[in-house]
Amino acid sequence: MARIAIVGGGGYVGLAYAVAFADLGHDVVGLDTDQSKIAALKAGRSTIYEPGLDDLLHRGLASRRLSFTTDYARALAGAEFAFICVGTPPDEIGRADTTYVAAAARGIATHATRDLIVVNKSTMPVGSVQFVAEVLAEHARADISFSVISNPEFLREGAAIHDIFNPDRIVLGTDQPDVADRVAALYATLNAPVLVTDTRSAEMIKYASNALLATKISFINEVALICERLGADSRTVAHGMGMDHRISPRFLGAGVGFGGSCFPKDVRALAAMATDAGLHPNLLTAVLTINAHMRAHVVDLLTDNLGDLAGKSIAILGLAFKPETDDIREAPALDVIRALIAAGAKVRATDPVAMSNAAAQLPDIAYCRSAYHAATGADAVVVMTEWQDYTTLDLDQLANSMRGNLIIDGRHALDATTCHTAGLTHIAIGRGRPDTRIATPAPAPDLHAPPVAHTTTVQTTATQPV
Ligand code: UDX
Repeated sequence: MARIAIVGGGGYVGLAYAVAFADLGHDVVGLDTDQSKIAALKAGRSTIYEPGLDDLLHRGLASRRLSFTTDYARALAGAEFAFICVGTPPDEIGRADTTYVAAAARGIATHATRDLIVVNKSTMPVGSVQFVAEVLAEHARADISFSVISNPEFLREGAAIHDIFNPDRIVLGTDQPDVADRVAALYATLNAPVLVTDTRSAEMIKYASNALLATKISFINEVALICERLGADSRTVAHGMGMDHRISPRFLGAGVGFGGSCFPKDVRALAAMATDAGLHPNLLTAVLTINAHMRAHVVDLLTDNLGDLAGKSIAILGLAFKPETDDIREAPALDVIRALIAAGAKVRATDPVAMSNAAAQLPDIAYCRSAYHAATGADAVVVMTEWQDYTTLDLDQLANSMRGNLIIDGRHALDATTCHTAGLTHIAIGRGRPDTRIATPAPAPDLHAPPVAHTTTVQTTATQPV
């Protein structure tokens, strides 16, 4: 069993790995510069909402295999591995900001008293193994050597503990086979496939994986908008597409688009890396544009059905970017609420766990204890997050609370028939009405017509070289 220091041990990724590694039998010290987080964790209070985490935290503390500190020297004492799990937030043009990574590497370098394997766990720009190695070399004692390895995480928030114990693969980016073996051994009891690559390919696997999943979502959202116009149902379309094993049904859920700490940030960062390298990331740019449009689409649907939104009361069900988390980073609900406020609407919002986080950013809306409370007197209800509380609503009770009868279902959370039975008008993103009249297209130009006298410039959309 190994001795592991986790820098960023109070954050989403760091804390999940800290409790999980301790549960796998390793000795783990979680380090964080945030004193209040460390105080809470020492007292057994989790700093984030993540299913299963509390139990592992209590078990780890009780076993004494898990501890927390703000002190680098204490965290690194006897450690064989130092995991860097700090944030890489986007800068103003979307590049991943490596300030915290550099600070972590400096902290490790200045306090290490023995040779260490440094594991880059956070999502870091391609080339970060080299970057971290350079920072370490600059600040470390001359008699200490470090091996830096990329070991990206693929955790979903809300399912992070499950994902740690059931990984699809362990990716290790290093050109040192012995280092790969030692890091792989930390996960040995999980029996997961291990892929050892060069450092940059490992770093790219993380970005490319997130970019493809985000692309699937924007793809189905574009299809969903077409379905609305042409009278098809995007859910049925996704189901039929997903039966093809090459496509798979996963990440084909149309709706208000992706949020969270990873997809928006990582797609932007990959696009920025491509642009910095002189390329034109057209697909990545389209993925982000479509995603932003899906938020605007919610407001358009409300306006189409209610007219001017000034003075209208809109209930928002769900603030977190997805269920089972209190994380509101890049949450679609927040953008929709801002647009509604700008349009003069009154917003009544609710969420099972994310209200206090949302209130810090949007203090001037009404926060309600339940969906029924939020719907009281509302002209429309918008489902922004498919929490189980909302997929199992008593729709008669909801309808009775409302002033109007409009439901915009941004996550295919509700059953259309049950809504209609309760007297509600249910509009789901990507579900066209089967009786939609399809506009007759303009006649195609006659390619065999004799040439006209004047010169016609044909405008083509040039594909930028990638
Ligand atoms: C994601 C990746 O799944 C994970 O591997 C990576 O490490 C971090 O980013 P996460 O952001 O926690 O994880 O959530 P995920 O479940 O992937 O959903 C991301 C967003 O996409 C959510 O806003 C979700 O609502 C949305 N989504 C997901 C869709 O809109 N449609 C889908 O079909 C799936």
